[in-house]
Amino acid sequence: MFFGCENLSFKYGNVEVLKNVNLEIEKGEFIGLVGYNGSGKSTLLKVMSGILQPYSGNVYFKDKTLDEKNRIKIGYIFQNPENQIIGVTVEEDVAFGLENIGVPREEMIDRINWALSIVNLKGLEHADPNTLSGGQKQRLAIASILVMEPEVILMDEPTSMLDPKGRNEIYNVIKKLIKMGETIIIASHQPSDLEEVNRIIALDKGEIIFDGLKDEFYSKNIIDVELPFKTKLEKELHFRFQKLVDELCQ
Ligand SMILES: Nc1ncnc2c1ncn2[C@@H]1O[C@H](COP(=O)(O)OP(=O)(O)O)[C@@H](O)[C@H]1O
Ligand SMILES: [Mg+2]
Repeated sequence: MFFGCENLSFKYGNVEVLKNVNLEIEKGEFIGLVGYNGSGKSTLLKVMSGILQPYSGNVYFKDKTLDEKNRIKIGYIFQNPENQIIGVTVEEDVAFGLENIGVPREEMIDRINWALSIVNLKGLEHADPNTLSGGQKQRLAIASILVMEPEVILMDEPTSMLDPKGRNEIYNVIKKLIKMGETIIIASHQPSDLEEVNRIIALDKGEIIFDGLKDEFYSKNIIDVELPFKTKLEKELHFRFQKLVDELCQ
């Protein structure tokens, strides 16, 4: 199997938040991971990237169990780019991972240029990441992952903290990555993030309740993707808040 997991469970303390999850993902697939807040999307992506260890079961990459060695091939993009940015300049931030694995200087420069051009951040090499917009920060986070040449990219609601302009910038990068044939799983509530998706995996209370084609998912009305919340009040508050953010950002 290219990428996936078998009988995967995960517990925070005594609470089981992933229950017997089985997934098989092929190279080049672009998959949407959906589910209400608290359904386990972030936990699943963190376990599948090796950030968290399974309670039981296994994650596989190219028929091997995920371990310290091969997990470098799985890139994880945090929901909040602030959690991922460590460099004092854009260039340093992208260089960080490469320095850690001892990539020669010449190759490093080429790879950094390549990654920054994919996310459209060329020209901002010497900028302080703190001065970037939300969309630019998230694109920087993507560049720092891309530069490591991952074979799978896991994105955890990468547009949820961004204004409409920032969201749009990320869609454009995602479209580019799809064209490049990257294997991507994206957790999202934004229908536009899921536009190019073929396959949807839906989680509820840590269990897979749907895994199949997007059209079938929508026609069966399994869950309301656009709304991360279950109750009417939560939905209403969410909408009002989002509207306020959009207005403030205009
Ligand atoms: N660090 C943590 N410690 C304890 N419980 C957690 C932690 N992170 C998440 N949880 C719980 O695990 C469940 C799944 O959370 P999460 O994976 O963040 O879901 P989602 O990303 O779909 O919102 C939720 O019930 C959440 O409260
Ligand atoms: Mg989450």
